[in-house]
Amino acid sequence: MRRLLVASLLAAGLAGAFAHSTPGEHQEIRRRKTIGFGPTNPHAVYRSSPSVVINNFGRNEDPYDVARAFIQELTAGRVPADSTYKIRQDSYTDSRTGVTHIYARQYVAGVEVLNGDINLNVRDGAIISYGDSFFKEPKDASLQAAPPTLPSLHSEYCQQLSDEIQSRRDKQRQLLFAQGNQVVMGSKHVEDNLGDLPTIHKWNCDYVQAPSSLMSAADDLDFSEETEAGQALLRFMMSATSNPELADDMAQNPSKYLEKLSFTVEHNILGDDLPTVTIRNVPDTVNPVKARMAFIQAPVDGTNYLNFVWKFEVEMEHNWYESAVTAYPPFNIISVVDWASDSPLPVPNEPESSAVYQVYPWGVNDPDCGERSEVEENFDDLSSPIGWHSIPYAHDPSLPSELRKQKGYRNTTDTWGNNVFAHENWEGRNNWIENFRPSAGRKMRFRYPYRPQRTDNSQDAMIEAKKHINATITQLFYTGNMIHDIYYRYGFDEVAGNFQAYNFGRGGQEDDAVIMNAQDGSGFNNANFMTPPDGQNGRCRMYLWNTANPYRDGDLEAGIVIHEYSHGLSTRLTGGPANSGCLGWGESGGMGEGWGDFLATTIRSNSNYSDYPMGAWAANKESGIRNFPYSTNLTINPSTYKTLDKPGYWGVHAIGEVWAQILWIVSQGAIAKHGFSDTLYPPKPEANGRIPEGDFYRPVEHDANGKEKPLVPKHGNTLMFQLVLNGMKMQPCRPSFFDARDAIIAADQALTGGENYCDLWTGFASRGLGPDARVDGRTPWGGGVRTNDYSVPSTCRGDDGPQKPIPAPTPTPKPTPPDDDDDFPWRR
Ligand SMILES: *[C@@H]1O[C@H](CO)[C@@H](O)[C@H](O)[C@H]1NC(C)=O
Ligand SMILES: *[C@@H]1O[C@H](CO)[C@@H](O)[C@H](O)[C@H]1NC(C)=O
Ligand SMILES: *[C@@H]1O[C@H](CO)[C@@H](O)[C@H](O)[C@H]1NC(C)=O
Ligand SMILES: *[C@@H]1O[C@H](CO)[C@@H](O)[C@H](O)[C@H]1NC(C)=O
Repeated sequence: MRRLLVASLLAAGLAGAFAHSTPGEHQEIRRRKTIGFGPTNPHAVYRSSPSVVINNFGRNEDPYDVARAFIQELTAGRVPADSTYKIRQDSYTDSRTGVTHIYARQYVAGVEVLNGDINLNVRDGAIISYGDSFFKEPKDASLQAAPPTLPSLHSEYCQQLSDEIQSRRDKQRQLLFAQGNQVVMGSKHVEDNLGDLPTIHKWNCDYVQAPSSLMSAADDLDFSEETEAGQALLRFMMSATSNPELADDMAQNPSKYLEKLSFTVEHNILGDDLPTVTIRNVPDTVNPVKARMAFIQAPVDGTNYLNFVWKFEVEMEHNWYESAVTAYPPFNIISVVDWASDSPLPVPNEPESSAVYQVYPWGVNDPDCGERSEVEENFDDLSSPIGWHSIPYAHDPSLPSELRKQKGYRNTTDTWGNNVFAHENWEGRNNWIENFRPSAGRKMRFRYPYRPQRTDNSQDAMIEAKKHINATITQLFYTGNMIHDIYYRYGFDEVAGNFQAYNFGRGGQEDDAVIMNAQDGSGFNNANFMTPPDGQNGRCRMYLWNTANPYRDGDLEAGIVIHEYSHGLSTRLTGGPANSGCLGWGESGGMGEGWGDFLATTIRSNSNYSDYPMGAWAANKESGIRNFPYSTNLTINPSTYKTLDKPGYWGVHAIGEVWAQILWIVSQGAIAKHGFSDTLYPPKPEANGRIPEGDFYRPVEHDANGKEKPLVPKHGNTLMFQLVLNGMKMQPCRPSFFDARDAIIAADQALTGGENYCDLWTGFASRGLGPDARVDGRTPWGGGVRTNDYSVPSTCRGDDGPQKPIPAPTPTPKPTPPDDDDDFPWRR
């Protein structure tokens, strides 16, 4: 089977693919360039209960005091003498679980360490789990600036990658030769086996060294720190731009670009961080670049060093990068994360009633799965207290600043509200405020026909698709709000960093509703989501798919919208709302894709078990856009942890598919044990704010002090949904599969006292992620050698222990030996 849509590297695009073509015609797929890599910290750890519980404090101790005391103990004598830390403002207590999630950022000599994080999960005076990547080398071993011999890690990674490509080519040629085939260099059979590796190389490995012209360019200009910031930034842009002519021109004529840059320095009022510099006129960007000096840890010969870097936030048309480039020549790029995962005054027109939408209702994944019907605006007082079509004047970005001074709410009659701004974006530009939206009038009936017709050519196909824009935007707005509301109820609320224009005084940063572009003109056959830190709008771009005649509109496939929005969820929950850099590449980035597939699949599933492909309708391909449908059947979906070693699994989408498959199996185990709930929506709160248990939660229990314990979803699918979200909050920044697995198990410990400990392990182990699973020699993009472990912890074995494992939903497979056969995708 040919892999139709292989993964893009790091973007949270659905498939990282787009192409122009006539309707229904198969086309070679072009992809949005994205880069991402960074150092692994060999000292980073994640420890979770029940293996480590530190409980030196009284139950009622302030969790922040517990955290400070614990950090003191953890770091004493092990960090440089001038190491300090700050508890980040985006730390919060989860009202559902009572767990306080605390994020500490390290500072050395007063300078922020970009990858120095401790995340602590505290409840009842105990640290229930924590992750720690603080810089720990004793001071004399680590110069405060870079060691003079700091190699370019970027070129090291790229060297490893080209070695890997070469060795796979050689192996493949030998194999074909041994089978008696004539071997043609560069032939499809040799190249197919390389999966995404050549693309990853092409994107990431341009300009691994800064050209010498860049260094000498500074001689022509007045030297200042700003000049160096400009050089570092230009050096990053050479690697980041998808325009090779521009990259070459920047390399050949750097002065031309450096001269045009303008710098504004903003000192923050407290003076406790280095100033932020705003850099304008940066080529290929759509907004000024934010820059700040900081440290980043990176290893040289196994020892971690602090490197002085410029940290840049660079917004481009298709990417939104956070990057770290050494602040001195030769300006090496140390780390890159792409946060993009792939008016006129309104006329007052007060609505008379809540809205009605003609849409594919929640749970109908796409037009192949059911019919459109009329559904009502479905807000509850908890998730959306003012409904979906209301926004405070003060937080309405469509209003000029004078009008924002008004008190109260503006009620809209179009697809503009506190959670979602949905509209067309045919031009594919970054404009959004004045883009077209359907207006339903005071009666708020969003009813629009959807009957697209076949056409003869691609131009007509576009015209035909655009005729249905009202129905499409209505669907996108509806799905976006449904997702906002459901994630809210499982704990993606204001303090956890959710997306809302106004936060109702419930904490967190506001003014960040999701901008949702329907029929975005910047591509085809894909979707993507950009997640900047809390307080800045998320941006979701949905595309048309030219895979069928008439074109299919991704906005109508709920699974795609859910997948995209889930990038916002996982990015904000992992490592805290203010840190968008925790799911950048490799296994972490892959899980960023996997959670979206898992949640989308969970949302569409019903009590009759079924296998589900991803994106099958939009892609017009029964098996969907992943390698396999999600299935408990090993023949239909054979993915295990070790699958990640295969060349086709370099790249976040393929890694994500393995993670989603493992979660699917674990979830089926939970359903076998606890049953299935037909709705994933918890009951709406009563007038007094109390949430009724209904048939959704278990009866409320009280702890020894008479305090209500957190509400526990009663059924397997709802419980797993909750554990997956709680796990995201508990896991460290840049988690591995092991960390994320342990965090889900720790989340169960916190929520149910660990009653599912063995069941969860059984599920993970059935796909190779048992306690002794291992990986050796990881690289930023994938690779390494993984060892599956199909066993469960000893306490879950035999029947003398207190907890017996339930049978796995699938028979435990025999470990598959490394299988060369499977490395030939075209033979499947
Ligand atoms: C406008 O919205 C606010 C907040 O939801 C609500 O209290 C008010 O009744 C609405 N006004 C009208 C005319 O519907
Ligand atoms: C979409 O709805 C608007 C009213 O909101 C209407 O004026 C317009 O003609 C509709 N567009 C199409 C393509 O049907
Ligand atoms: C499950 O299958 C049964 C028997 O085919 C059917 O009656 C029922 O409606 C199905 N339930 C759902 C939720 O699809
Ligand atoms: C798994 O799928 C294969 C291929 O479709 C099928 O032959 C087999 O019966 C399935 N096994 C189970 C247990 O359903």
